[in-house]
Amino acid sequence: MTTPPFAPAPFPLARPRRLRSSPWVRRLTAETLLTPADLVWPLIVHDGADDRQAVASMPGVFRLSPKEAAKAAVEARDLGIPMVALFPNVDGAIKDAVGTGATDPDGLIPDCIKAIKDAAPEIGVMTDVALDCYTDHGHDGIVEDGRVINDASLDRLAEQAFIHAHAGADVVAPSDMMDGRVQAIREALEANGFQDTLILSYAAKYASAFYGPYRDAVGSAKMLAGDKKTYQMDYANSDEALREVAMDIAEGADAVMVKPGLPYLDIVRRVSETFRVPTFAYQVSGEYAMMKASIAQGWLDEDRAVLETLSAFKRAGCAGVLTYFAADAARLLTR
Ligand code: PBG
Repeated sequence: MTTPPFAPAPFPLARPRRLRSSPWVRRLTAETLLTPADLVWPLIVHDGADDRQAVASMPGVFRLSPKEAAKAAVEARDLGIPMVALFPNVDGAIKDAVGTGATDPDGLIPDCIKAIKDAAPEIGVMTDVALDCYTDHGHDGIVEDGRVINDASLDRLAEQAFIHAHAGADVVAPSDMMDGRVQAIREALEANGFQDTLILSYAAKYASAFYGPYRDAVGSAKMLAGDKKTYQMDYANSDEALREVAMDIAEGADAVMVKPGLPYLDIVRRVSETFRVPTFAYQVSGEYAMMKASIAQGWLDEDRAVLETLSAFKRAGCAGVLTYFAADAARLLTR
């Protein structure tokens, strides 16, 4: 974004409405263009018996079996969506203190990656690197004496990223907010021959009320003891986000993410202008649930509200947006 070098002419020489007077001129002069290529579709996957399970707090979102996730990936590819992102809901019985399930090479996420790569090899697959979906305490790292321990968590996270890359993940996305995890992951990938695996780091991830429905979707809500404020960022802060992003880029991140989405567009703008690396934002579960609830009441027009919010991310400087509306939006954009 640049500031105009001079003030616009005064009225009536300037009549801004001229540029809005008909659809063709609005299209011709549009400053941003949203396309399906800007969208990443988060898929919640599960290891239960059913193919699909509705998520109560996220109407229209289903927990998918690996087979159903592969179908969704085919659908996404056919809609022109470049990447899907996987988030696991695993059986509570496999959860433990160190998140052993996170590094199971035959676990749910490796299964899903393989199923998707078989069905739609052209689509990018991103995985979430964090332990919360696999731990019995619901934290993203290892807990000792009630504290989330940074350095001991790094080995687990690096191993998890390696397991994902080994199963075929194209992009590993650490969402845990431990210090130094990008470096630990980059070293593990380099050491094991995965130099082409991308790291999309959740660099500026805030401790947010808007993750509520997601924790329900992946089954970590009941587990979580306390909050994540010792590792996720405080929403009062903005300069701190720039320091986080700078560190992650220096440690080997190819692209960065700001999360949540709409309430944090000021951060997206600062990050994208400052660093000029591909900057993503995540329109998270609570944002989706909030919109769906008013759409269900008839208070918001779904199609218009979806395209407006997703365009706002582009306008703020995003290379792309993770959104549970991805398939719906891609359908709207291509019809
Ligand atoms: C956790 C993770 C979270 C989300 C993505 N990865 C939640 C959390 O930090 O508790 C949230 C996604 C959403 O709300 O849609 N590692």
